[in-house]
Amino acid sequence: MKALVLSGGSGTRLRPITHTSAKQLVPVANKPVLFYGLESLAEAGITEVGIVVGDTAAEIEEAVGDGSKFGLDVTYIPQERPLGLAHAVLIARDFLGDDDFVMYLGDNFVVGGIRPLVEEFRAHRPDAQILLTHVADPRAFGVAELDASGQVVALEEKPEHPKSDLALVGVYLFTPAVHEAVRAVKPSWRGELEITHAIQYLIDTGADVRSTLIGGYWKDTGNVGDMLEVNRTVLERLERRIDGEVDDATETVGRVVIEEGAKITNSRIVGPALIGAGTVVADSYVGPYTSIAENCRITDSEVEFSIVLRDSSITGVGRIESSLIGRHTEVTPAAGVPSAHRLVLGDHSKVQIRS
Ligand code: G1P
Repeated sequence: MKALVLSGGSGTRLRPITHTSAKQLVPVANKPVLFYGLESLAEAGITEVGIVVGDTAAEIEEAVGDGSKFGLDVTYIPQERPLGLAHAVLIARDFLGDDDFVMYLGDNFVVGGIRPLVEEFRAHRPDAQILLTHVADPRAFGVAELDASGQVVALEEKPEHPKSDLALVGVYLFTPAVHEAVRAVKPSWRGELEITHAIQYLIDTGADVRSTLIGGYWKDTGNVGDMLEVNRTVLERLERRIDGEVDDATETVGRVVIEEGAKITNSRIVGPALIGAGTVVADSYVGPYTSIAENCRITDSEVEFSIVLRDSSITGVGRIESSLIGRHTEVTPAAGVPSAHRLVLGDHSKVQIRS
């Protein structure tokens, strides 16, 4: 069995972070989202992985390499434009050959991995197996309609009037039967070849399409709110470890990880929280569900329920909450203009200022 991991796409809902970085590489607990997916494939006993890449190919390839650090053998499959998930299967035909495969969307996060699902698929080997989960707003997803016996009868991509609250999770299991289906579908209203339509084709032509309801936690990390939620969930499992330097005037409470080379002075760190290597925290408070990446500097400030990417600094600005702060970012007070905000923001930035 092989895997096809989708790591293209432009990540519009995570702008401006995704102007300069692939959405699949935004870190959760200081590790790229994509790495969790690759680890779960390895854990499910899969080694041959094709990664479909787009504009951010160079960055993905640099981060993942040949896959050996995950115990995987990775092949890169360039997709010239984001033409849809079914299109990704089309262009991966040579790589996939006649093998069964898992298709895994690189920005999806499944807590607990996918091993039980892969085992279930291997045991019964239906033509296709999809994963479903209850969501609050199904309009943002592919949505499944089931009959009284629990059999999937119809799938709709991002419906305006969803027929259920069961969203398609971004992990799909296929036999080679899917290849005929992806060749048969036509572009949708958004100009993409939808995998949802290909699976509908399988259902309509009498193929055995099964669904599994996942009880565990799943998120599509497409937007900042979801990113912070996933970060919170992963930090929940953190185990306390202090490898960096912490002075006597600092208090660390609960499940706190201070990586080697980090330096904390006169501060209060309340877990679960993660401080990356080489980061300096001075005269500050870092609160629960915060991940601060490598080589940052937090001075005279408070940060809670946030993700701070590497090489950024936050100095003397009071409290920051529910924020995603990009790489090489500086947050400082505006000197000499006490009641003004001075902003230099990238395209598509979002700033919420105390009113
Ligand atoms: C894709 C699928 C959708 C699925 C979602 C899961 O949406 O088309 O059916 O529910 O992934 O993350 P997209 O991320 O392309 O909007």
